[in-house]
Amino acid sequence: MAKVKSTFFCQNCGAQFPKWIGKCTSCHEWNTIVEEIVQKEEKRSWATQPATKKAAKSLKIDQITSTQESRLNTNNHELNRVLGGGLVTGSIVLLGGEPGIGKSTLLLQIALLMQQRVLYVSGEESQSQIKLRAERLANHNKECLILTETKTQNIFREIETNSPQVLVIDSIQTLHTDTIEASPGSISQIRETTAELIKFAKETNIPVILIGHITKDGAIAGPKILEHMVDVVLQFEGDRNHSYRILRAQKNRFGSTAELGIFEMQNTGLREVENPSEILISEKDADLTGAAIAATIEGMRPLMIEVQALVSTAVYGTPQRSATGYNIKRLNMLLAVLEKRAGFRLGTKDVFLNIAGGLRVEDPAIDLAVIAAILSSNEDEVIAPNICFTAEVGLSGEIRAVNRVEQRILEAEKLGFDKIVLSKYNKIPNQNYQIEIIKVGSMLDIVKALF
Ligand code: TYD
Ligand code: MG
Repeated sequence: MAKVKSTFFCQNCGAQFPKWIGKCTSCHEWNTIVEEIVQKEEKRSWATQPATKKAAKSLKIDQITSTQESRLNTNNHELNRVLGGGLVTGSIVLLGGEPGIGKSTLLLQIALLMQQRVLYVSGEESQSQIKLRAERLANHNKECLILTETKTQNIFREIETNSPQVLVIDSIQTLHTDTIEASPGSISQIRETTAELIKFAKETNIPVILIGHITKDGAIAGPKILEHMVDVVLQFEGDRNHSYRILRAQKNRFGSTAELGIFEMQNTGLREVENPSEILISEKDADLTGAAIAATIEGMRPLMIEVQALVSTAVYGTPQRSATGYNIKRLNMLLAVLEKRAGFRLGTKDVFLNIAGGLRVEDPAIDLAVIAAILSSNEDEVIAPNICFTAEVGLSGEIRAVNRVEQRILEAEKLGFDKIVLSKYNKIPNQNYQIEIIKVGSMLDIVKALF
């Protein structure tokens, strides 16, 4: 008899230890080390090991019949778009977001909106609390079942009796299974309950949507492997002080991760925002300095976004720089470029930057609008409201081309802008636009174009 060999692994980072310790020396997490059996018996050569009875057979790629994945309509355009066209049957989706951002509201709303029978399992709120929330939401799917339960075995029993077509779990951190001792929310419970749910989803073809809490630094709480295990990871984000919420896909095995869903939190739940450009441009009386409109693209959708900047003389020795919805390091870089390449003395000025609507923008094409807004505030010159910007700015002050420029031009034209400023390196195949196209190549060109 060969002896059983076991090793201790950190459930958070995967580091390996010869004996149990309280704190992982690699990732510094507490109480994440568990014992795992690594070798049951003496290793034989790989070729002589017997296969199990149900071993899978390999197939030539041509022999595999392709099946179109079937998708359920969630009856919510924004969610459908982010999922890549609907909820794939048998898939497992993880929805993460800060507390109070609206995860429970979104999923309850979807449960009430879908045509299918949905089982909404909550470990956080009582049935009557959920009923109260449901009353605020307009839609009513009579087939929606509400269960307050945290033990997976009991949930599966309930599923057997009611046979729902979609399962929603509010939140994975509250679940626990009998097969493991650890307390709910611990790493091994999260891993085990998720594994049970994945098995359930794959065997029954019932899609499962999980809500996941996130930690201080924005990652989904629990082991990183959770994100590897599920098919889709969605992130629900937004500024708590604004009513707009953004739904992004961080991972999607059935669609693009570039798509974006936009919602507005109202008294009656989350409203889908179909035309985001109109709301992201603030209703300003003209003649305000420090505002510029950027033509950006998030996912497949063009978005016109207002950038606001305030440049004022610094009171303290070290000037303040602050950015909401924009990367502060990038702002510092653009300020350095303005100083070095265009001769603006911004080193002694406070600079505040704000993206209207509480949005966080990742498209680099917003750079030019940021520069324009800063210059406008610094020079106290108004930028005409009928002009918009789309270009990336490089370290040497060069104005760079952006992708999908036609789509941006068309959106600007549609929303009634008269001029769009872009890089002279952008190739524009079609020249028949109503909108005037202003091409710039360097910092000095912009200054000339603006003032
Ligand atoms: P919730 O879904 O409970 O957040 P999470 O599950 O992500 O923690 O959302 C709570 C917030 O949403 C709460 O602060 C109130 C607000 N809300 C509305 O503004 N309108 C509504 O119709 C509902 C149901 C909630
Ligand atoms: Mg909740």
